[in-house]
Amino acid sequence: MRRNRGTTPRTTRILGSLLLLAAVGVFTSGAAPAARAAAPIPPDRVVPAPASVKPGGTPYRITRATSVRVDGSAAVRRIGAYLAGILRPSTGYPLPLTDHGTGGIRLHLEQGDFGAEGYRLHSSAGGVTLTAATPAGLFHGVQTLRQLLPAAVENKTVQPGPWQIAGGTVEDRPRYAYRGAMLDVSRHFFTVAEVKRYIDQLALYKINELHLHLSDDQGWRIAIDSWPRLAAYGGSTQVGGGAGGSYSKADYREIVRYAASRYLEVVPEIDMPGHTNAALASYAELNCDGVAPPLYTGTKVGFSSLCVPKQVTYDFVDDVIRELAALTPGRYLHIGGDEAHSTSHADYVAFMDRVQPVVARYGKTVIGWHQLTGAHPVEGALAQYWGLDDTSAAEKAKVAEAARHGTGLILSPADRIYLDMKYTEDTELGLDWAGVVEVKRAYDWDPGAYLAGVPASAIRGVEAPMWSETLKTPADIEYMAFPRLAGAAELGWSPAAAHDWNTYKVRLAAQGPRWDALGIRYYRSPQVSWPKS
Ligand code: ACM
Repeated sequence: MRRNRGTTPRTTRILGSLLLLAAVGVFTSGAAPAARAAAPIPPDRVVPAPASVKPGGTPYRITRATSVRVDGSAAVRRIGAYLAGILRPSTGYPLPLTDHGTGGIRLHLEQGDFGAEGYRLHSSAGGVTLTAATPAGLFHGVQTLRQLLPAAVENKTVQPGPWQIAGGTVEDRPRYAYRGAMLDVSRHFFTVAEVKRYIDQLALYKINELHLHLSDDQGWRIAIDSWPRLAAYGGSTQVGGGAGGSYSKADYREIVRYAASRYLEVVPEIDMPGHTNAALASYAELNCDGVAPPLYTGTKVGFSSLCVPKQVTYDFVDDVIRELAALTPGRYLHIGGDEAHSTSHADYVAFMDRVQPVVARYGKTVIGWHQLTGAHPVEGALAQYWGLDDTSAAEKAKVAEAARHGTGLILSPADRIYLDMKYTEDTELGLDWAGVVEVKRAYDWDPGAYLAGVPASAIRGVEAPMWSETLKTPADIEYMAFPRLAGAAELGWSPAAAHDWNTYKVRLAAQGPRWDALGIRYYRSPQVSWPKS
């Protein structure tokens, strides 16, 4: 299924670029920066778009005398240290943390109507105050503050400045509580350091859920003590036959810890009953015929299944879920359930009927790919929809019916926010089975109206999956994620009323120099008038 979309005529593009260059003030970053000090970035030039922005008043200027004011809580201090850690290298200022004095940049917790993740950012000549009811809210506010400073602030060496933050007030909170990104570490393995790099990039856009696809046909990536060959053997290769790899329990805990420090919750996935060749290869007894298949390094799907009638299957599932749940402080455990083409429907239903209660027994909430709605989702389960615009009405109706009966939905429509889909036919990385997905197409849909017959309250949020059949390095991940990840984040965070491609693409263009400064490789889509870097 391939679609053709027009591109903006070249002349319009050039004119747009010039206007944008002027607007974001990049002409001022040359010879005499202070003399031609750029107007501060308007407080609404932020991705995701804040819920409310009231510009006005005198800007605040960060100087050598600025301090970061934090109150007594350890969490606020840590966020202050994180902010200062971003600002010090590029400004060259000391930016000490302090719990007294006036002015400066103040991070402040206060009981108020901010919600679990909202914040208020107020900037005026005397200082900047970030206020929230929770550390998560303050952390998201810090991401907004970063974007109100010139892109050069993201550099690791001293830059000329000036460091102004426009006067005004931003009041912000998310549309959806679940704003996720998935990373497939099975098809190609990514190290702890590589996952941390992605976590930092997700945090920039207020993503709060990191879904790790930890097992598939090509590799089992998490140590399970009671079944040690899963990681030792099942993790020993990957697509194309490389060395693969797996996380020790200490590695996984470190990912969870780091994600939590960026206010992301880790959602671990063990995909079952299909997508299980790595497990079946590791333990012969898991196969109905008692014969272990070879490890698999290709990219086909739908050929493997756990043996539904055998008791050992449930001993295995119980051990895996128990150990993984014990490692995971987050609320969710994802049990996959997609593309079980080698499992009969009756077996699929029987398997899900037995496995979902195991997740609950170990204190977690089930998430499954939306095929779970063709079985009996347990109360409280979430289904992750990964269909296309033209998925059959019958399949969509099944999902909608489950949603009307209480199953929450996470929206990941594959021909919109599967980040591994090619941008155009010419994109070297990625797949195109769901279509080619340019930046506008990825952004231009409303999660609240996407599936007919679904009550608004059933939509828990949006998640952008990154499958890694073709992706081997962080640079590969970044090229497919950026810019589309920013759009997915906006769909999850910003109010429906803010959804508008024409204003979004201007805010998105302003991200380009930030990504350059951060060393993030990205696709310079011709649909966006990027400033020259
Ligand atoms: C999927 O893309 N198979 C969930």
